[in-house]
Amino acid sequence: MSIRVLDPALVSQIAAGEIIERPASIAKELIENSLDAGAGRIEITAEGGGVRKLEVTDDGGGIDREELALALTPHATSKLQDAPGLEHIASFGFRGEALASIAQVARVRLTSRTADADAAWQLEAADGVAAAAPQPAAHPPGTTVSVEELFYAVPARRKFLRREATELGHINETVRRLALAHPAVGFRFVRGSRTAFDAPPGTALERVKDLLGGDFADNVLAVEHRAGPLTITGWVERPVHAGGRADPQYLYINHRWIRDRSLAHAILDAYRDVLFHGRQPAWVLAIDMPPDLVDVNVHPAKHEVRFRDQRAVYSAVRAAVAAALETTRPSAPPQPAPDSASVSAPASAPKPAAAAPAAKKWRGAEPEAANRSFDWTALAAKEKTADYAPAVPKAERDAVAAHAKTSADETPPPGGLGRALGQLGTLYIVAETADGLALVDTHAAHERVLFEQLKAAWDNGGRSAAQTQLVPTEVRLDPVAIERLDEARDLLERLGFELDRISPEAVAVRAVPAVLSDVETPALIRELAEALSNEAEGEQFVDAAADRVLADVACRAAVRSGRKLTVPEMDALLRRMETTPRADQCNHGRPTWIRLTLADLDRFFRRGR
Ligand SMILES: Nc1ncnc2c1ncn2[C@@H]1O[C@H](COP(=O)(O)OP(=O)(O)OP(=O)(O)O)[C@@H](O)[C@H]1O
Ligand SMILES: [Mg+2]
Repeated sequence: MSIRVLDPALVSQIAAGEIIERPASIAKELIENSLDAGAGRIEITAEGGGVRKLEVTDDGGGIDREELALALTPHATSKLQDAPGLEHIASFGFRGEALASIAQVARVRLTSRTADADAAWQLEAADGVAAAAPQPAAHPPGTTVSVEELFYAVPARRKFLRREATELGHINETVRRLALAHPAVGFRFVRGSRTAFDAPPGTALERVKDLLGGDFADNVLAVEHRAGPLTITGWVERPVHAGGRADPQYLYINHRWIRDRSLAHAILDAYRDVLFHGRQPAWVLAIDMPPDLVDVNVHPAKHEVRFRDQRAVYSAVRAAVAAALETTRPSAPPQPAPDSASVSAPASAPKPAAAAPAAKKWRGAEPEAANRSFDWTALAAKEKTADYAPAVPKAERDAVAAHAKTSADETPPPGGLGRALGQLGTLYIVAETADGLALVDTHAAHERVLFEQLKAAWDNGGRSAAQTQLVPTEVRLDPVAIERLDEARDLLERLGFELDRISPEAVAVRAVPAVLSDVETPALIRELAEALSNEAEGEQFVDAAADRVLADVACRAAVRSGRKLTVPEMDALLRRMETTPRADQCNHGRPTWIRLTLADLDRFFRRGR
């Protein structure tokens, strides 16, 4: 499409303002132009913090010789035709302002060649004025925009620029934001003489790995969610992996990076009861929607957008992240890569690709062994493989083989957490899993299981969850506590409690939620009154408040560290965890279990090395 000057009435409808604040703004505008031109590769070079020189080269569609001057003209664009076009913008650019604004504050050299031209042409501009005529130049199909001496004629603006390293940091972040959203486009960023990154075209996850590192990529949950015309995809960090500082948090609308506090809140809200206090999860989330449902013509730098239906977008984002977080439970055993850290916790995501060859090597001689319990057979088989060096005394080998026979007859431990072997002190359950052992924090695990059951009861109106007591239990409490219980009557009924105030200092308990029926009733009611006292007075029990009360009740009711469990009780808890959403972490975001695989133990004891 050819470049045309917009009519002044249309220009007046476009969000105007300062576009070029610093070198990074130039990088953003130039890269967006390259993306709009359909580039497959983009190279960005910065010298002197991007102030001395900033250059972007692409292999996109290019600009015709006759249109080079127009490209530098204010309000001239090939991307917007008329006012209705503003309602559904599908390109980054639409104002026809960026190149002209850059040419106002720096020297610009525009070199371009279209696919069908037999030569490239170059046009220079300074002080907003383009040279008389384009000059022939050497350039493959595509465009290079070279910007030099930013703010050379505006010393006052130059003073506001920061140190070179700071400006480079901003450019780096700008390139990264755009590169993350366009994995199919190769991005190379060269600062000075150093390549900061060179990300080849690839899949979205490969791009995330290239730019945010393997540690991030290995500890994320995939998000994939549809809600009406909205599609939400990307990754959110596993709660137990979240760190203390704001990790990368990238949000895109139709591939455009945006700042949106409300949507950031939607994401954090989904993390509400799985995140340890003070931790910040990382995310890379892309929301795609028909362009007419979002207005990008709000902010001069296009960093903010307005949605036609803000609430729908908010709840879709929240639901998308919540659905991903629900999957954090131990039912699918993570398979650590051969060279990962020696202990894998829920913090380490499954690494199926990397784990497969390792598992094969380890269990090569024993195809069914993967489903087996502690794998003595495989251990014995492994001894015979060539890479097993230390000589093992025959007596020990025989013992191993004998054990292999007996243990093969036992039922294999089901699910991800295996079969309980016993309790370490009163705190941890030790379980034998298909590939090693798991340690479970009893209290943390029980707390999450109870919490999820209480939430289910809450959503269910308590109807199926109440356990009626044959003889009501009378519980004596102080009058303030009785008052509190009385005020929260609706909440309690919805949960499955039936309480009657029988005097200013006593209640009769007729029913309790079935999931709490194990807890001694008077203690439970006291804990409940205590949990309610933590809530602001008069606050409506909207879902967030209800969640807090439920989490508190769950925590109080959960197995205290002093209680010793029987093996069947432990097994029951493990099975529960495997089917409980978000069971990888307790209500406070602490991890509930860790796993040590045979491969980890093997490495630790230096077997087979
Ligand atoms: N790298 C490029 N490849 C091909 N054409 C380009 C390139 N950069 C700019 N152009 C052409 O120059 C025109 C002007 O670019 P400019 O960035 O100033 O405005 P825009 O992208 O149309 O709108 P906006 O001001 O919102 O960015 C574009 O509409 C496009 O036709
Ligand atoms: Mg542009």
